[in-house]
Amino acid sequence: MALSINVDRMAGIRTPFYYYDTNILRQTLDAINTETKKYDKYFVHYAVKANANMKVLKVINEAGLGIDCVSGGEIEQALAAGFPANKIVFAGVGKSDWEIELGLDKDIFCFNVESIPELEIINEIAAQKGKVATVCFRINPNVGAHTHAHITTGLAENKFGIDMKDMEKVIQQAQSMTNVQFKGLHFHIGSQILEMDDFIALAERINELQDRLESEGIHLEIINVGGGLGIDYKEPQTHTIPNFKDYFATYHQHLKLRPGQTVHFELGRAVVAQCGALITKVNFVKEGSVKKFAIVDAGFTDLIRPALYDAHHKIINLTSTTTETDTYDVVGPICESSDVFDKDIQLPKTQRGDLLAILSAGAYGEIMASCYNCRPLPKGYISEEIQN
Ligand code: LLP
Repeated sequence: MALSINVDRMAGIRTPFYYYDTNILRQTLDAINTETKKYDKYFVHYAVKANANMKVLKVINEAGLGIDCVSGGEIEQALAAGFPANKIVFAGVGKSDWEIELGLDKDIFCFNVESIPELEIINEIAAQKGKVATVCFRINPNVGAHTHAHITTGLAENKFGIDMKDMEKVIQQAQSMTNVQFKGLHFHIGSQILEMDDFIALAERINELQDRLESEGIHLEIINVGGGLGIDYKEPQTHTIPNFKDYFATYHQHLKLRPGQTVHFELGRAVVAQCGALITKVNFVKEGSVKKFAIVDAGFTDLIRPALYDAHHKIINLTSTTTETDTYDVVGPICESSDVFDKDIQLPKTQRGDLLAILSAGAYGEIMASCYNCRPLPKGYISEEIQN
């Protein structure tokens, strides 16, 4: 099943805008729930950083997922969308005091702590409030991931997490504090990971660390493996639902659990990427000496992934009726040469006024939009608002 877009209903909506097909989103969520139900105590916290559109969040909340936040703003957005505070995990290397206070005031499920100074501040603020914060430590597992360098996070050289060699020390420190309760470990090795071997490497690293801790008499209740499952950007219309089956089965096979442990996942991209498209209008077709440019009204302010990570997003022409094709560079209106969505792609003959859909844009699209060039932020619509 592919994204369904009814262009007739889109007339009158100012482009560019994000369009989210909630049928696809619901089917994706069903697939997640079907797989996690197979295993005891697997919980998915949707990584809200991928897409914080309120209408999208409400659909995700209806499916019963928890939520993974990395800022006070995300916690507020999650709560406003109806997510229960006791399903919120809160990560991030640089939490501000007000964000820690908010997490404590709302009694969130868990703080994923990334350093000793952060632990000390959480303990101090919790003491002032007469609360006890549940904490997990984010450990840097020094496991590489086969993905773009900007989105790999689990290597020793990355700023994230606590070094493995300090693990026992920080846990003992937490155990000696009165206003934090240590519950487990958190990991995340990167994003857009398609090779299950990378997740196997993480599971094996966690097994080693657990053995180490067990010999010290330290028991974990929570193991949070982070997110990172990738999606098919090349063939989104045929591979619309990510491979959740293999993903969860990989952890089930390779992660050795102790009695009473729960496993937590923080999937972002895999939940929302394929349900979203950026809809943009062709303003001009310009013929250069060596290229034909389809100049669209969306730019990297609306979808920055191609400019920032060399990311590929499949582009389709929604309105052209001809079978003739031509080769185009699809470019935006922003005054920078990196404002290119794709180069030398085949599209049906395209003309001014055609609508294009830039696919697989539901994750890290709308949420990363900016106002550069004083451009308005793109709006996001769910299919119910357009199709009915
Ligand atoms: N958990 C943690 C601690 C994370 O840092 C991330 C993503 C996730 C979960 C969710 O990862 P996902 O399941 O979506 O791969 N803007 C980039 C992606 C940055 C990912 C940052 N961390 C992009 O557009 O590709």
